[in-house]
Amino acid sequence: MIAVVGSLNLDLVVPAPHHPVPGETVLGGDLARHPGGKGANQAVAAARLGAPVAMVGRVGDDAEGGRLLAALGDAGVDTGRVARTAGVATGHALITVDPAGENTIVVSPGANSRLTADDCHSAADQLGAAAVTVLQREVPDEANEAAARLAGGTVLYNPAPAVTGATVPPGVDLLVPNRTELAALTGRPVPTTLDEVASAARRLTGPGAVLVTLGEDGVLLVEGGSHLHLPAYPVEPVDTTAAGDAFCGALAVALAEGAGLEAATRWASAAAAVSTTRAGAQPSLPHRAEVHEVYARTGNAVAAVGGKERGES
Ligand code: RIB
Repeated sequence: MIAVVGSLNLDLVVPAPHHPVPGETVLGGDLARHPGGKGANQAVAAARLGAPVAMVGRVGDDAEGGRLLAALGDAGVDTGRVARTAGVATGHALITVDPAGENTIVVSPGANSRLTADDCHSAADQLGAAAVTVLQREVPDEANEAAARLAGGTVLYNPAPAVTGATVPPGVDLLVPNRTELAALTGRPVPTTLDEVASAARRLTGPGAVLVTLGEDGVLLVEGGSHLHLPAYPVEPVDTTAAGDAFCGALAVALAEGAGLEAATRWASAAAAVSTTRAGAQPSLPHRAEVHEVYARTGNAVAAVGGKERGES
């Protein structure tokens, strides 16, 4: 079983010819509303890949909260530990997506910001039994810290969104940042080369391994003194929203099923690649057969084009 502690948002998505700069108004396309939130996306990603999943979170007692709970239920996620907070709006995310599929996101956390350590204690049975517990940063740190303490299995922490000065909760086994989040955690500039990324990841003591997601550059797996670069699967992205969530959900599933870290990372990269070929957060998250098809079909092609680069230091 996989437990996800985290956010649920209603995503308000507008396609735009380009992202606005401060002071600029941009005329975009038609508004779409999708279920989202990093936590809920990761829960749905894992459930679509066949895992039993329990979600811990909060929504408001409004219509949007009901819609998000229904979406999780439709995906097969156990929502028994998602509480409804009276008088507080459900979380929302305002998202623009440009023609290259790149997004900008502003989150209004609403009820997500009311998640407490006590909420996690109420889910102690689920957290204790989970093979993998998945955490992110759209809920208060105190909830994540409690969840990491209560977790009986592997703790996977996705420190998104990035905030300078953020810390990794004690008890995290596996850290999954992107470059920006890595910079925020280390308090240093955003690393560019693979060596810079590896050396930044090694500054973070605590997690047993760090998996840095690099978008179209793939993933860098940093464990102890060695690092392994896995190139991205070749796809034409339409919308990269929730690609990191697809990665985390799939990684949790593969690890819960007993895969080694390298194989789990390759599988998770395939899930993330498929998710970028479709619009929206939860609507883009793939089913198991689709991930397997990309994993099997392009795994060899990726190896032939670049293969993996292993570094030691
Ligand atoms: O990671 C994508 C998610 O970030 C969106 O669904 C949005 O809700 C924000 O939480």
